Amino acid sequence: MRPTTDTVPPRAAVPGTGPRAPPAPDDPASLKVVPARHYARWVAAVAVIVLVGQFVHGLTTNPVWEWGVFRDYVLSETIVQAVWVTLQLTAYATVRSTPGTRPRTSPPHPPAPEGSAMATVLSVSGSPSATSRTARLLRHLDTRLTAQGHQVIPLDVRTIPAEALLGADFRHPAIVEATELFARADGVVIGTPVYKAAYSGLLKSLLDLLPQYGLVGKTVLPLATGGSTAHVLAIDYALRPVLSSMGAAHIVQGWFTLDKDLAVGADGTLTVAPGPAEALAQVVDQFAEALGSRPAPQAATGRAA
Ligand SMILES: Cc1cc2nc3c(=O)[nH]c(=O)nc-3n(C[C@H](O)[C@H](O)[C@H](O)COP(=O)(O)O)c2cc1C
Repeated sequence: MRPTTDTVPPRAAVPGTGPRAPPAPDDPASLKVVPARHYARWVAAVAVIVLVGQFVHGLTTNPVWEWGVFRDYVLSETIVQAVWVTLQLTAYATVRSTPGTRPRTSPPHPPAPEGSAMATVLSVSGSPSATSRTARLLRHLDTRLTAQGHQVIPLDVRTIPAEALLGADFRHPAIVEATELFARADGVVIGTPVYKAAYSGLLKSLLDLLPQYGLVGKTVLPLATGGSTAHVLAIDYALRPVLSSMGAAHIVQGWFTLDKDLAVGADGTLTVAPGPAEALAQVVDQFAEALGSRPAPQAATGRAA
């Protein structure tokens, strides 16, 4: 049997644990460390605290801030509802974008098999003029789309009764018919003369009567004719935002044509100057190409806004 003992084994000597010799007077270890005093910082900090305090005091006590009005606006039903909807949408978007939660779908733009799925195109002229060059240009371009096998339906907004357009008569048969034509179309060509640096009021009066999302799922080609290159961007700054707000799936590159490049013969036939003719053919072909890869159409919802 092994004898037990309470004796502690001798420790090995640890360097530096033994008694220290008093430091030499020039040894840094002998110096007393005192934190540096930044008097300027203290004064600045006090000044900032006083200023912030005054600001907060002013915010809370000065009546010119009119916090009551602020509270009334922020807590108004519209704002509260908007915040609630935003939170819901954020939560929904977060869930949808989390990997693994997205439903499996087929590719969004399946290319149409060659030689099939020709599109229905609504070709809308927004000119009020009886001798409209815009309308003639559209009918001229329609033939190019038809030659590619698409079904083109022409619509001159000027043929819709004015009382229906100006009276916002949603139930007027002409408005109902126009709405159905838009709903049926896979693609829409929208042509307008530039009036006062924007698209025509006639076109707007029709767009106003269509459902808010009347262009959802549709491919759109915006075209304009005008008298001045000063307004060559009217499509982009005026027309395109409206088409976007109506949910257009794809607004392809548009084209602005100068009216002087559109010559109307005595028999009413249109001749387009060579440069613009080439550019127009190109944008029409791009539109046709985009139609071939259009997403599945969705039902338009809602009334006009
Ligand atoms: C009332 C009116 C306003 C016009 N305003 C503009 C304009 O701001 N900018 C422009 O480039 N052309 C302007 N034009 C010229 C037309 O846009 C141009 O002649 C167009 O090709 C006419 O098309 P239409 O024959 O289809 O009506 C205006 C023409 C009219 C009649």
